[in-house]
Amino acid sequence: MRGSMQMTHERWTATEAYLRDVFGVEDTGLRAIRDRAAERGLPDIAITPEVGRFLHLLAGSCRADRAIEVGTLAGYSAAWIARALPAQGRLYTIERDPAYASFAEEQLASIGLSDRVEVKRGAALEVLDQLASALAPASVGFAFIDAEKTEYLDYFRKLSPLIAPGGMIVADNVLGTSRWWIDQLDHPERSAIDRFLREVVRDPDFECAGVPMREGLLIARCVRERGR
Ligand SMILES: C[S@@+](CC[C@H](N)C(=O)[O-])C[C@H]1O[C@@H](n2cnc3c(N)ncnc32)[C@H](O)[C@@H]1O
Repeated sequence: MRGSMQMTHERWTATEAYLRDVFGVEDTGLRAIRDRAAERGLPDIAITPEVGRFLHLLAGSCRADRAIEVGTLAGYSAAWIARALPAQGRLYTIERDPAYASFAEEQLASIGLSDRVEVKRGAALEVLDQLASALAPASVGFAFIDAEKTEYLDYFRKLSPLIAPGGMIVADNVLGTSRWWIDQLDHPERSAIDRFLREVVRDPDFECAGVPMREGLLIARCVRERGR
């Protein structure tokens, strides 16, 4: 690789600043969610505005009217996704921490999204089982995974039958969480993510790309034939 094109931390920061300058960051409602989450002392582990914009674009391009998110925190990514849904659409977002779930509900209400987002409290694997019983197979257009890294493969297996042909599963942190996985080959979360990625990539029902944006995104589009 030519030296001038190496992506150092400094170059990434400058690149992000340039993208924010050209595309804008976010509106005041979304910004307020980030600010209030910081004031409340919630962990600084939400997606960035750039990833939010990308999720919004992907959810909109799937024409999803039903979506599932695993890992709500303050509701920041939920807000980006929900805004891509039609007025009668529904996002189910799953959060095991009751204080975060209530905080997210307040934030989503503050930007007029209460009717489009339902915060489901509980452990993701249990809530996904409940959703699988309540929703028809292949009835979900978009899913975003951003919770327990060691459970990603289980989330995928539970979500897969729910995803409609043409729908997408997107997962965050597939290249790292704060530190890059490529430098931490024996990290248990890294091995779990590696198993997850390799299973999704091998699955004939999905076509995939890994996007090295922020801490890495997996984009998996469902190419299963209808009725299979
Ligand atoms: C990285 S944060 C989510 C950030 C959020 N998606 C955003 O970008 O705005 C992960 C969240 O998942 C929740 N979580 C972690 N493991 C979980 C589990 N097994 N079931 C449900 N929620 C879980 C955590 O409490 C935390 O709020």
